[in-house]
Amino acid sequence: MTAKEKEKGFATRAIHVGQEPDPLTGAVSVPIYPTSTYVQEEIGKNRGYEYARVSNPTRDRLEENLASLEGGIGSTVFASGMAAINAIATMFKSGDHVICGHNLYGGTPRLFNQVLANFGMEFTYVDTSDVNKVERAIRKNTRMVFVETPTNPLMALSDLQAITKVCHARKVEVVVDNTFMSPYFQQPLALGADMVVHSTTKFLNGHSDGLGGVVVCTKKEQLEKLAFLQKAAGAILSPFECWLILRGVKTLAVRMEQHDRNGRAVAGFLANHKKVRGVFYPGLSDHPQHELAKRQMSGFGSMISFETGSLKNANKMLRKVRVCSLAESLGGVETLISHPATMTHAAVGPDGRKKIGITDGMVRISVGVEDVDDIISDLDQALDAI
Ligand SMILES: Cc1ncc(COP(=O)(O)O)c(C=O)c1O
Repeated sequence: MTAKEKEKGFATRAIHVGQEPDPLTGAVSVPIYPTSTYVQEEIGKNRGYEYARVSNPTRDRLEENLASLEGGIGSTVFASGMAAINAIATMFKSGDHVICGHNLYGGTPRLFNQVLANFGMEFTYVDTSDVNKVERAIRKNTRMVFVETPTNPLMALSDLQAITKVCHARKVEVVVDNTFMSPYFQQPLALGADMVVHSTTKFLNGHSDGLGGVVVCTKKEQLEKLAFLQKAAGAILSPFECWLILRGVKTLAVRMEQHDRNGRAVAGFLANHKKVRGVFYPGLSDHPQHELAKRQMSGFGSMISFETGSLKNANKMLRKVRVCSLAESLGGVETLISHPATMTHAAVGPDGRKKIGITDGMVRISVGVEDVDDIISDLDQALDAI
């Protein structure tokens, strides 16, 4: 990104950085290059592209765009959020120690504990909302702290500035999974983080029509290592999926504004509903970290969890929803509602869920951008079933 581009606003960069008209035809939409290889003029002479696992022009454009939105020096995209997280972890080696939030998306500890621990990496899980716990967990071989804020589904925040301060004093890198907030509402690199990861499957794509992941870097060495991992391990994003994100991201700013408006309204409705026994949403003034939320994020987003009291109650209401769709995932234009204990956090097991406070009665909602009155009346009639 040039200095001039840096001065431009978020929505302008989302629409224009990496999304310049095609120099050959003037097409305003970035072309999709569905090719596996590139013709070379003579031995060692090519136009910068040799083989599509290594690089692809559509992918280059997306990587430029996402780096700009997170304020990084560059980014690398992968076939899914998990492939991006796996790429980060494989930048380290056997014997290295990683500190993680104790309430991460369930797939992340599954990868760490059931795959990477077999290769000699060590993982410790702490409540990263308490910076002292992070500091106490740092060992001589600690290389990275991996944080999700807000967490899924409990919506607990971690203070990124405080964490990066203690970690950098001990030469430990901080990586933030920014999937829930998107770069529109939270800029971890500006708060000191070393890398940001996203499941682009969620808000960045925004239309529930493709998987993807991205790692945004602050240092050239990180970018080189990750580009090497794209080439060496091959979990790259296809040109078509890259294009879907390039298209989706053009409306990120307006979508996030609407998600946030709808999220606040739905959280307020749930907080006042007599059948709802608790609401987890950083935008509510009684959220324990509401002040940190106001300081660290520029909006509260549309991820909300609430307590129905039991598995039976959760099931009764989830069977009744009509505008909201009972489905895993989040961040699309459509409202998705899910049951963490049996869906996203099934792999954590009953003891693991109990430890972090995920109950069988908890329901998570990713509020979409439909008319908010329709979302609220759907929830209202579904809650009547309890
Ligand atoms: C916060 C978070 N990070 C990472 C992932 C994994 O992303 P993907 O499903 O694209 O592999 C998810 C998926 O739900 C998620 O919610």
